[in-house]
Amino acid sequence: MSSERQVIKVLIVDDIPDTRENIRKLLAFEPDIEVVGGDGASTGREAIELATQYKPDVVLMDINMPDMDGITATKQITMAVRTAAVVIMSVQNEQGYMRQAMLAGARDFLTKPVSSEELYATIRRVYERNEPIRQQEAQMSSLRTAVAREGKPSVLTPIAGAGHIIVVYSPQAGAGVTTVATNVAAALMRHDTRVLLVDANLQFGDVDTFLNVQAQRSIADLTKNVHDIDQEMVDSVLVTHASGLKVLTAPPLPVAAYDISSDAVRELVQQLSKSYDFVIVDTPTQYDDMTHKLFDVAERIILVANPTIPCVRNVRKMLDIFRDAGMLDKVLFVLNRVLSEKERGRGAVPVNSIESHLKFKVVSTIPLDNAAMLVAVNQGVPLVAKAKSQSPGRELIELAEHVRKSVEQEKPEETKPQSEPRSKSGLRALLSGN
Ligand SMILES: Nc1ncnc2c1ncn2[C@@H]1O[C@H](COP(=O)(O)OP(=O)(O)OP(=O)(O)O)[C@@H](O)[C@H]1O
Ligand SMILES: [Mg+2]
Repeated sequence: MSSERQVIKVLIVDDIPDTRENIRKLLAFEPDIEVVGGDGASTGREAIELATQYKPDVVLMDINMPDMDGITATKQITMAVRTAAVVIMSVQNEQGYMRQAMLAGARDFLTKPVSSEELYATIRRVYERNEPIRQQEAQMSSLRTAVAREGKPSVLTPIAGAGHIIVVYSPQAGAGVTTVATNVAAALMRHDTRVLLVDANLQFGDVDTFLNVQAQRSIADLTKNVHDIDQEMVDSVLVTHASGLKVLTAPPLPVAAYDISSDAVRELVQQLSKSYDFVIVDTPTQYDDMTHKLFDVAERIILVANPTIPCVRNVRKMLDIFRDAGMLDKVLFVLNRVLSEKERGRGAVPVNSIESHLKFKVVSTIPLDNAAMLVAVNQGVPLVAKAKSQSPGRELIELAEHVRKSVEQEKPEETKPQSEPRSKSGLRALLSGN
C-alpha cells in the first residue's frame, strides 16, 4: 500500500445532531480522514445536495430521517456521485433495510452505536474498494474536459466543415471493428470536434456493451421515417457515453434489422453527418447492399484485418471490390492483433509480407493485448481514455490522428503500391489460393 495515502473525504448524514457530532469527533483523530460538508446533513435531501457539492469518497448514512429516507438518498447519491461509497448506519441489523440498501447501491453497514475501530476500518475498506471507480471517473473526466465546449451540439443543424463519414469494416468476424470504431471515435473527440458513433451492425451490434451505455431507443427509431427526422427526435434516440461521445445504438433484437432498409441507413448517416465533424460507423461482417451503400458515402473506409491467412485472403477480395468500385483511395488498411517480432512464433504472417502480397500499405498496426482489451470492454471505457501513452491505446490514438489528417488533406491519402516480395516464401502461394 502506498505510504502517502490520499485523504478520504467523509460526509455524515444523520437527523440527530449529537450523533453527527460524536462521529465527527471520532473522525477528527484520523489524519487520513477529512469530514466535509460542515456539520453534515440532517435530511436525505440535504445529503444529496452536500454530496453533489462536496463529492465525498464515503457517505455515512442514517436510514430514518425526515423528508427523504436514507435508502432513497443512497440511490440518488450513488447515481449522482459515482465515486461516493455509501455506508448505512442503522440502529439494529434490520434485514429488510439491508437488502433495500444494497439494492440502492450501499457498500457496507454499521450498527449504531458505532465503535471507533469499526468506523475507521469500514471507511478505509470501502474507500479502497472504490479505487477502480475513482480511476475510471478520472479517465472519463479527462475525456470530458477534452470535449468540453460551450453549448450543446445542435443536431441536424448543419455546421461548417462538418461531415466526415468514416466507415469501419472487416470481412472477417471478430477482427476488431467495434474496438477500432469505439476507440477512434473517442480519440477524435476534442473541444472543437463533434463526433457521433453509429452502430450499423444491425443484428448483433454491441457498441452499447463496449461503452456500457443503455439506450431506450435505437437506429430503428430513426430509419423508420428517415426523411422526417428532426433534432428533437434525434436527441431522444442518441445516448451520451460518460466521456461525452454521442452514440446511436443498434436495435435491441436482431429481427428488427429486417425492417431497416439499406437506403434508410445510408440516408440517415448522411443526414446526421451534417451536424457532426465525424460520424464513425461500425458495421457487420457481411458485404451486402447496406455495407456497400455505406462505403459509397464514406469519406474513409477503415478496413480492419488480423494478420492471419484467412483474413488476409478476404481482405484481398475486398480490396478488389473497392478497386472496381473506384473506392480504393479512401481505404485505410489497419492490422489488429499484431504480435511483436519477439512474440511472433513460426507461422504468424509478418506485416510487410501482408503489404507486399496485397500491394497495399498498412496505415496502423494495433498490438494484441488480451488483458487490456478485456478490461476496457468490461469497464465500458475506451482504451484511448486509459493508458494513452501505452500500447494499444497509443496506436489507436495515432490511428485516429491519421484519420483526422487524412480527411483534412485536400488529396486523399496515398496508398503506395508495394514492391513485389522477393522471397519465395510459401506465403504467396497460400494467400493466392481461394
Ligand atoms: N488488439 C486486440 N488484442 C486483444 N483483443 C482484442 C484486440 N482487438 C479486439 N480484441 C477483442 O476481440 C474481440 C472482438 O473484437 P471486436 O468486437 O472489436 O471485433 P468485431 O470485428 O467488431 O467483431 P464482430 O464481428 O463480432 O462485430 C473483443 O472481445 C475485443 O475486446
Ligand atoms: Mg463488432
